[in-house]
Amino acid sequence: MRGIATIANIGAWLLVWGGLCSAADLSGNWMAAVSLGDGTTRRTYFNLKQDGSRISGWIRVRQFYYSIAESSGGPGGFTITGSMKDGNMDRTAVFEGRLQGDELRIAERRPDGLQPELIAHRAPDGEGVLPARLPPPALHRVPDNGLARTPPMGWNSWNKFAGRVNDEIVRGIAAAIASNGMKEAGYVYINLDDTWEGERDSQGTIHPNNKFPDMKALADYVHGKGLKIGIYSSPGPDTCAGYEGSYGHEAQDARTYAAWGIDYLKYDWCGARAIYSDSEMQAVYQIMGDALLAAGRPIVFSLCQYGRADVWKWGPQVGGNLWRTTGDIRDRWDSMERIGFGQNDLAQYAGPGHWNDPDMLEIGNGGMTGVEYRTHMTLWSMLAAPLIAGNDVRSMPASILETLTNREVVAVDQDQAGHQGRRVWKSGDREIWVRDLSGGDRAVALFNRGADTAVISLKWADLALPQPLTARDLWTHSGLKLQGPEYAITVPAHGATLLRVQ
Ligand code: GLA
Repeated sequence: MRGIATIANIGAWLLVWGGLCSAADLSGNWMAAVSLGDGTTRRTYFNLKQDGSRISGWIRVRQFYYSIAESSGGPGGFTITGSMKDGNMDRTAVFEGRLQGDELRIAERRPDGLQPELIAHRAPDGEGVLPARLPPPALHRVPDNGLARTPPMGWNSWNKFAGRVNDEIVRGIAAAIASNGMKEAGYVYINLDDTWEGERDSQGTIHPNNKFPDMKALADYVHGKGLKIGIYSSPGPDTCAGYEGSYGHEAQDARTYAAWGIDYLKYDWCGARAIYSDSEMQAVYQIMGDALLAAGRPIVFSLCQYGRADVWKWGPQVGGNLWRTTGDIRDRWDSMERIGFGQNDLAQYAGPGHWNDPDMLEIGNGGMTGVEYRTHMTLWSMLAAPLIAGNDVRSMPASILETLTNREVVAVDQDQAGHQGRRVWKSGDREIWVRDLSGGDRAVALFNRGADTAVISLKWADLALPQPLTARDLWTHSGLKLQGPEYAITVPAHGATLLRVQ
């Protein structure tokens, strides 16, 4: 009995000793590799230095590089809080982990709960570190590329497909757009968003991942349909979804895009936030503006940095043809409404070759009613916004196709003069917006943002508009006889009426 007890004691003692020994063992460069199923691997790094009860170091997760600002616990169970500067705000992330054998088991704690656990192993020191900062260039004016004289029109994969986009889907979308009337209505750019990227080869050349076996062949296919093709990257080392960005490879990537036959680039700040401040955005975007011009193929340059740093004031100078003015749109009335009706003050910055971009269309994605989608289309057209459809155009109801391809509404969006519309009247939930069109016509939009049907009266004198004799309703495709100084129209909840007056 005694002997057994002694052995048990020794066993317990060894466990305690083992625990104490491993107490220092959190220190190291830990890497968790998750295969994304497209031939690429997402690597998350925890570079930890344990000093007694304090853990310091850094965390790299997708496009974010945090330094550890707070910690508690030890190898048996710990919490670390990473923090990083992102423009004017501080971004934080909290991870909970423990050492188990020679594995670090660790998961991010988000407001909506603990994320799936990652299993990290020791990696060589130096792996996963933030690339060295390349100094931003001195500012100059990038010459106008002569593209996008009217707001770009097309399709983008993100709103509907996000990370699920692949070659087959894009071909199907292009084929649908070429045959369902969208192409004739003006939708020409077929744009791949994030998650097409694979890895760089030893020469630094970027390759697509397994979802896109041959980018040149895909571009040829899209061109064969009489359409154009767009692609996506980031000025940072990583894109928003954690794929390879263009940092340090801008000229090389621009040449690769040109060689594939790419016609449009959406360039998304994302990972650049780990290296540059918002005040350096202009210089950083200028690098790619120059690179695209030097690549020798006409490529529309779409800036995506969520409307920070007053991009509308410098977008054209870096060769930008359009720039996002806000964060990401969602397929919900409140998101579309907040973004769309928030654009009034930016009207002066839009014009041929350079447009405010309130983000891609959600029309047909299912989160709004048909009336709300018509309001979305009306508002974007009044704003001279890019019309980039974001739904599955291979299978959409006829009513959605009709909303997207209403030629008279598209003609307002695409008006040659390129004046963005403005709000001229507002009372509670009711608004009237006017857009000056070429040839002296005006588009007049009546919006009811409220939840009940409303009557909106056009009092021409109050709107500082000459009293027109006739108007055309661009959704019912009918003429209206206007008599007298005022004209009242009933507009459904969340609805819009769009008139063209002479
Ligand atoms: C950002 C952009 C989106 C989309 C995603 C892709 O959120 O604003 O439009 O491109 O990145 O990761």
